[in-house]
Amino acid sequence: MPRKFIQVGTGGMGRTWCTTALPPNITDGLIEPVAAVDIVPEQLANARKGLGLPESKCYTDIHRAFDENEADFAIVVVQPAAHETVVDIALAHDCHILSEKPIADTMEASVRIAKKVALAGKKMGVTMSHRFRRDITTLRDIVWSRTYGELDYLVCRFTCAARNRGQWGQFRYDIPDSLMVEGSIHHLDLLCDLATQGDGTLCDTIYAHTWKPAWGDFAGDCQSLAMMQMQNGKRCSYEGAKANAVGLNGWGQEYLRAECDQATLIMNHAGLEVFPYGTGHTQRGEGQPVDLIDQPKWSNTWLIEKFARWLNGGPAMETNVDDNLQSVALIFGAIESGRVGAPVDVQAFLAGHVARIAV
Ligand SMILES: NC(=O)c1ccc[n+]([C@@H]2O[C@H](COP(=O)([O-])OP(=O)(O)OC[C@H]3O[C@@H](n4cnc5c(N)ncnc54)[C@H](O)[C@@H]3O)[C@@H](O)[C@H]2O)c1
Repeated sequence: MPRKFIQVGTGGMGRTWCTTALPPNITDGLIEPVAAVDIVPEQLANARKGLGLPESKCYTDIHRAFDENEADFAIVVVQPAAHETVVDIALAHDCHILSEKPIADTMEASVRIAKKVALAGKKMGVTMSHRFRRDITTLRDIVWSRTYGELDYLVCRFTCAARNRGQWGQFRYDIPDSLMVEGSIHHLDLLCDLATQGDGTLCDTIYAHTWKPAWGDFAGDCQSLAMMQMQNGKRCSYEGAKANAVGLNGWGQEYLRAECDQATLIMNHAGLEVFPYGTGHTQRGEGQPVDLIDQPKWSNTWLIEKFARWLNGGPAMETNVDDNLQSVALIFGAIESGRVGAPVDVQAFLAGHVARIAV
C-alpha cells in the first residue's frame, strides 16, 4: 500500500520535489500524493504538473489541507523558520514527517521538534541530500571500506559567487548565519559521516570563525573557516563561502580531499581520483580516475525511498530526526564557537540543549 502524503511548500526546492524527487517513488508504488500546500497560489502549479494533483487538492490554507485529507506523512519544504509550525500541524493530524534540512532555524526549535515527534510516537526523517549524492557515496564507500587504510583527515572547499541578493534564493539574504544554516549544514554533516569510517563515532569539538565581507548582501554571516575533531581522533577542515569573487566549488562541485594511509583521494566537480602512496609529488588531474557507483536513485529520491521503507517497518533512515540533531549541533556549535572565540564541545552543547528545552 503506497503511503499517502501532503507536501507543504511547492515553490523553490519544493518544485524539485514535485518534478524530480517524488515521481520515481510514486511510480514504484511506495508513496501517493493526496494534497499540496503553498501560500503562493502560483507555486501550486508545480504540484499539479509534477504530482498530478487536481486543483481541488491544491491548497493555500494548510489547516484545510490537513483537515480535508487523510495522510500518513507530511513533506516539509518551506524555509527553516517555518518548519516547526508545519511539524506541529502535521503531528496534530497524526502524520509522520519527512522534512528538508536543517531540522529548524535554531538549536532550540530543532530540539523541540525532535522531542515533539518522540512524544507523539511518530517518525521523522530529514533529507540530508548531499550526503547521499552519487560522488559522496562513492567516496564514502572507499573511505569506510579502508581500501587505502585508515583515514587521517579530510579537507572540504565549498566556494560560491553569490554575494548579490537573489543569487542564492531570497530568504537567505535576510536570515542570520545563512552559510551555516542553509549551506554548511550539508558539508559539516557529510564530513563527519565520512570521518566515522563507519564506527558510529560522533564529533567531539568544533572551532569556527564565521563572518560577512563588506561586499556581501547577506544580513548574516556567509563565510566560514572551521575545524572539527571526531571522537575517533580524525580531523576535518572546512572552507565555506557564498560571497567570493568566483565560484570555484559550488553545489555539487565541492572539492573534498581524504588523506588516507595508503592514498590521497580527491573529489572535485563530481569526479573522483586516487593517488596511491608512492606516487610522489603530483597534482589534481594526474591521479587514477575512479568509476562512480551506479544505482537508480540518489539524493532526495533515494532518501524518500528510505523513508517509505522505514514507515513500512524497514530500518530507520540514517537521517532520522534524533540522529540528525548531531548535524544541527555542528552548525549551531560552529556559530557558538565563533561567538566565544574558542572550540565548542559538540556533545556537551547538544546535551545542554536537550536537558534545558522543554515541550
Ligand atoms: N537539499 C537541498 O539541496 C536544498 C536546496 C534548497 C533548499 N532546501 C531546503 O528546502 C527548504 C525550502 O527552501 P527553498 O529554497 O525552497 O525556499 P523558497 O523560499 O524558495 O521556497 C519556499 C516555498 O514555500 C512556500 N511557503 C513558505 N511558507 C509557507 C507556509 N507556511 N506554508 C506553505 N508554503 C509556504 C513559499 O511560498 C515557497 O513556494 C529549506 O528547508 C531549505 O533548506 C534544500
